Amino acid sequence: MTADPRARSFDTATAQYASSRPSYPPALLDAVEELSGRRLAGARVADVGAGTGIATALLCARGAEVVAVEPGAAMARRCREALPGVPVVRGDGNALPLAGSSLDLVTYAQSWQWTDPARSVPEALRVLRPGGALAIWWNTTAFDVPWLRAQRERIARATCGTEQPAHRVRPGDADAVRLAGLTGLRVVRRLLRWSRTVSLDVHLANIGSRSAVLVLDEDRRRAFFADERAVLRAGFPDDVVEETYVVDVLVALRP
Ligand SMILES: C[S@@+](CC[C@H](N)C(=O)[O-])C[C@H]1O[C@@H](n2cnc3c(N)ncnc32)[C@H](O)[C@@H]1O
Repeated sequence: MTADPRARSFDTATAQYASSRPSYPPALLDAVEELSGRRLAGARVADVGAGTGIATALLCARGAEVVAVEPGAAMARRCREALPGVPVVRGDGNALPLAGSSLDLVTYAQSWQWTDPARSVPEALRVLRPGGALAIWWNTTAFDVPWLRAQRERIARATCGTEQPAHRVRPGDADAVRLAGLTGLRVVRRLLRWSRTVSLDVHLANIGSRSAVLVLDEDRRRAFFADERAVLRAGFPDDVVEETYVVDVLVALRP
């Protein structure tokens, strides 16, 4: 794994991650099937940066034969516990521990950004069979929702801009492809809006499981959450919030 403390930070908070992070909507799996031109049932899939197995579980539920690849020891352990029938291998997207031309699909759910595309793109293309697909996606926050936009500005301030302010977050299609390091490949993008309703505690734990917050020092983190809880309590007196997301998914086809 990279030496980047943010890429490694998830391993320090696996239980919090598993209990508070959002999953992904069924429309995402439908889009992956449509854009890759292949049903998930029976497909050979590597889910890379699998973490606690949130996306792995959804791929399995669609009938895919999934191997989970995860560099973090604690994350990999948690994934094995959650999905006992799924092979979980320790490994890195920059040097996949997988045979060449062996897979129909390689997926990265919220994890592509921790790889170096100069290495992870050729690696994905190496392990995919001809006509296979690389699918990468993120649950991005819907910044047209005013309270989420205001919260993102507070997070950006608390993390000194490590989490970007809302107005800098959504690139256009060409920039999204370029930023992902996928220039030169046939890539299709979809944006899929969805939401979930959770308690304030789950919402705050979710915010706290983000790498930019995990790497804050203890005093700063405690101060941020005390303020954040007070702001949200005032806006949501019943302690329930609706988190709105836009899944940003890019699917690249192997020639
Ligand atoms: C935000 S979590 C996403 C976990 C899971 N895919 C999900 O949807 O919840 C990012 C994951 O990427 C992993 N990761 C960090 N560096 C990586 C790398 N170079 N290659 C693959 N995965 C990496 C982390 O250990 C972590 O489990």
